[in-house]
Amino acid sequence: MRGRRALVTGAGQGIGRGLALAFGAAGAEVLVNDLRPERCEQVVDEIRAAGGAATPVPFDVTEYDAVCTAVAAHGPADVLVNNAGNAGAEGFATRGRFAESEPADWEAFLRVNLYGVLHCTRAVLPAMVSNKWGRVLTVVSDAGRTGDPGGAVYGAAKAGAAGLTRTIAAENGRYNVTANNISLGTMRTPLTEPLWAEQADSPQAKAILQNYAIRRPGVPDDVTNLALLLASDQGSWITGQTICVNGGFSFAL
Ligand SMILES: NC(=O)c1ccc[n+]([C@@H]2O[C@H](COP(=O)([O-])OP(=O)(O)OC[C@H]3O[C@@H](n4cnc5c(N)ncnc54)[C@H](O)[C@@H]3O)[C@@H](O)[C@H]2O)c1
Repeated sequence: MRGRRALVTGAGQGIGRGLALAFGAAGAEVLVNDLRPERCEQVVDEIRAAGGAATPVPFDVTEYDAVCTAVAAHGPADVLVNNAGNAGAEGFATRGRFAESEPADWEAFLRVNLYGVLHCTRAVLPAMVSNKWGRVLTVVSDAGRTGDPGGAVYGAAKAGAAGLTRTIAAENGRYNVTANNISLGTMRTPLTEPLWAEQADSPQAKAILQNYAIRRPGVPDDVTNLALLLASDQGSWITGQTICVNGGFSFAL
């Protein structure tokens, strides 16, 4: 990834942090985004301590003007990793049946997981097209691929983001810009840490793992090599795809 500049959103912890560290180790200059500036600084320090190049770029992906200002200030990104997301408010998902939800509950899911992806992709794409090289990776969820009782609006937002990717791929392939989704199953990150740290033996955790052929939650390192492949020159003929990193969620016995 030497000579490439990669903007990773929501990179202050969890999967985004893992991706930012991996891109830094692979030689990219990493623009480390997060809503929380102190998290950006910490990850930047980690990348630099490992010999990589990184810059903190804190902004809120839900604010289009802030996204555009940051992208203009830091120069064109060759790679965008749309990772910022949540399953509702910060922390483990606020879950509930759609029939009992209210429109006011939907906003938080849609703003980060769908609008955030629209904003960042729109902001970086013109430069990728004029440079005739670009990579857009979007971290989505099996909640949006297969459905997820209790996570309807989160899943809808992720499915929307995945749909955007396919059109970005179709519109921009002629400019050597690829766009792909990485669809994750249940991961062990700060977002889901309460489930695994405090209730790893709980019936809820056991029931979740029964759905996975490989009976453990994923970790950020499970995602990084695929992301690097898709972002590299070696990934130049892979576009418009949704690739699952999910421990065989669909094949569990
Ligand atoms: N953890 C899982 O089980 C799981 C499963 C499937 C998909 N995902 C997806 O993977 C991605 C990363 O999840 P994670 O588990 O690492 O989450 P996390 O909550 O541990 O980390 C997300 C980071 O994004 C930042 N962030 C949140 N809103 C933001 C905003 N508006 N602008 C900028 N930064 C923002 C947070 O501050 C945080 O540092 C998300 O898109 C999530 O939906 C996670």
